[in-house]
Amino acid sequence: MSIELRDTDVIWRNAKLATMNPAIKNTAGKSHYGMLEQHDLIVRDEKILAILPAGSVPANQCKVIDAGQRLITPGLIDCHTHLVFGGNRASEWEQRLNGVSYEEISAQGGGINATVNATRNSSAQQLEIVSQKRLNALMAEGVTTIEMKSGYGLDLVNEEKQLNVVRALAQKNPIEISPTLLSAHAVPPEYKHDPDAYIDLVCDAILPALWQKQLFEAVDVFCETVGFNLTQTQRLFETAKRLNIPVKGHVEQLSNLGGSELVAEYQGLSVDHIEHLDEKGIEAIKRSGTVAVLLPGAFYFLRETKRPPIALLRQYGVPMAISTDFNPGTSPFASLRLMMNMACVQLGLTPEEAWQGVTLHAAQALGRSDSHGQLAAGFMADFVVWDAQNPVDIFYELGHNPLVYRVYHGEMTHCDDLHGLN
Ligand code: NIG
Ligand code: FE
Repeated sequence: MSIELRDTDVIWRNAKLATMNPAIKNTAGKSHYGMLEQHDLIVRDEKILAILPAGSVPANQCKVIDAGQRLITPGLIDCHTHLVFGGNRASEWEQRLNGVSYEEISAQGGGINATVNATRNSSAQQLEIVSQKRLNALMAEGVTTIEMKSGYGLDLVNEEKQLNVVRALAQKNPIEISPTLLSAHAVPPEYKHDPDAYIDLVCDAILPALWQKQLFEAVDVFCETVGFNLTQTQRLFETAKRLNIPVKGHVEQLSNLGGSELVAEYQGLSVDHIEHLDEKGIEAIKRSGTVAVLLPGAFYFLRETKRPPIALLRQYGVPMAISTDFNPGTSPFASLRLMMNMACVQLGLTPEEAWQGVTLHAAQALGRSDSHGQLAAGFMADFVVWDAQNPVDIFYELGHNPLVYRVYHGEMTHCDDLHGLN
């Protein structure tokens, strides 16, 4: 490969590159994080130009950074969050710790609707301030792409307000944001006695109006006994399909309604939660190329005992992603590293699967598998330099942050001076 480097190109040298590229195998023929040593990672503008054996192209005048044998991984991708909301539900959590169930709280008008009230009563500016803090925590641990859902407004004005905050965050921060319309998150109080009429409102007014304003790129739903049934979900998916909008779903979290099969029928991006997913559902999502998104924070915080069917998902070769599901009710955890730890300890993933879950497969869940989630030529130059030797180190020791550099679209955005490189 003959490449003429420019002065503005950057070479990252002397690093351990966990490329996560599934085509790169070790000597035993295993993928092993797509690990490459003694290779140069060459960045041009916002993309990775090439990964080549060290020193194989003349550096000319371009900048060479010695990574001091540290680990470089793709930037982390958090593919399922409810980051923008008002208030918190700490007192509800206290109730739950005193024995009240999530379903009971939700039936009493608490749960999601408590956050809907708080979000409706917050200005866009207030929402942006609290959301920025949550985003800062995630970025500081290496997240470079994140999905954010609406779903706490539940009417046109407030869903738009939430998505406008998402847009403002995207404009002001070095992070790529994938916005999702989750207006079918809960039945708002004013439609309590007529959920079908609320779905009509979503399909006929909210979805088309906000799509027109380019405020989201996918449509989500909470398909559950305490959310929306299969018929309502299908009505929503049909509306999305007519406009060519990808769908995904919160499905099989508390029971098995068959939501996964419905998502698969619409070639959905992902099925999320899936503790109650069965083999029929797995067959369906395998056929449709849908990603299984595991949310260990919600599993833990709700004290679930039924684990997602990891062994079967593995057997069928379904890609598994991991996400924070950051939200005030079931997963108030702004740490994707903690989720990787939990996915291994509580759900039984291997460390390599955990890494694939926040890179390769999370990118696929956001429809970005050709450009994000791997260190490879042509992919976005989104990566993290860690003060670590091995990928598992990143979520083994928690409570301090091993991030040295965070690079987003080729630009250095976070740098721990203590570990500063040359
Ligand atoms: O992903 N399952 C539904 N939605 C959220 C919970 C949101 C909330 O309780 O506020 C979830 O867990
Ligand atoms: Fe969620």
